[in-house]
Amino acid sequence: MTRKKPIGIFDSGIGGLSIARRIRDALPNEDILYIADSLHAPYGYKTPAFITQRSIILTRFLIENGAKAIVVACNTATVSTIHQLRTEFSLPIIGVEPGVKPAAENSKTGIIGILATERTLQSESFLHLSNRFIPATKVELQPCPGFVEQVEKLDLASDETRSLIHRYVQPLLDKGVDTIVLGCTHYPFLIPLIKEMVGENISVIDTGYAVAKEVKRRLGIESLLSSSTDYGNNLFYTSGNPDKVETAINTLWGAQNNVSSLNSD
Ligand code: DGL
Repeated sequence: MTRKKPIGIFDSGIGGLSIARRIRDALPNEDILYIADSLHAPYGYKTPAFITQRSIILTRFLIENGAKAIVVACNTATVSTIHQLRTEFSLPIIGVEPGVKPAAENSKTGIIGILATERTLQSESFLHLSNRFIPATKVELQPCPGFVEQVEKLDLASDETRSLIHRYVQPLLDKGVDTIVLGCTHYPFLIPLIKEMVGENISVIDTGYAVAKEVKRRLGIESLLSSSTDYGNNLFYTSGNPDKVETAINTLWGAQNNVSSLNSD
């Protein structure tokens, strides 16, 4: 029976949809339960204690609503809370982390750039991750305040967003990076503008595919893969304004969806 239960996914907002859409593609028969914690976005400026508290509340809600596994579709929440979530809850919990390894393998100049929130870049677990590739690879860090807000506003093509991208990406290009890692799940929605700026010679790494592959692998190991042949359902919740989030989800997910209110404070 557990196999039929949904995969629970959460993020500070709609950024985690960049992960959810890859999970949907890789696992078309699974039900998905997604929470956008929009009332508290962005997490990037919050303390680890606050992010941990939110992550526990959201995980509990997902479990109470039947989740058989949890995907923390947020780099900032993963670095702050994944260990605690795994201690507190016994179901499979999959996190996301910046794709430093694929970037290091891809780079020809040996210099890679990481775009992420300040909170992610300052975390011990990110430091630990990037240290594994230093000194063979030079890892240039670039926090991007404002990116999450632009995505949450669905401002994906304005001059304001273009100039923010320029402000954060140009310094990386000046340092000689040939590979850029999107270390925040909101950023893949900026890929068209990032590519417009960097051109074809710079690789942009989006970890959504790798995370979806890992979710499939974990569910397989735990005998939790759905055996249904029907297309899976998507259920969305938000702690923010459901109408606003519904518009955003319909735009980024590409279908008509209902978003329910999550009262979690
Ligand atoms: N999408 C998130 C991440 O991957 C959260 C960013 C934020 O809320 O600041 O880091």
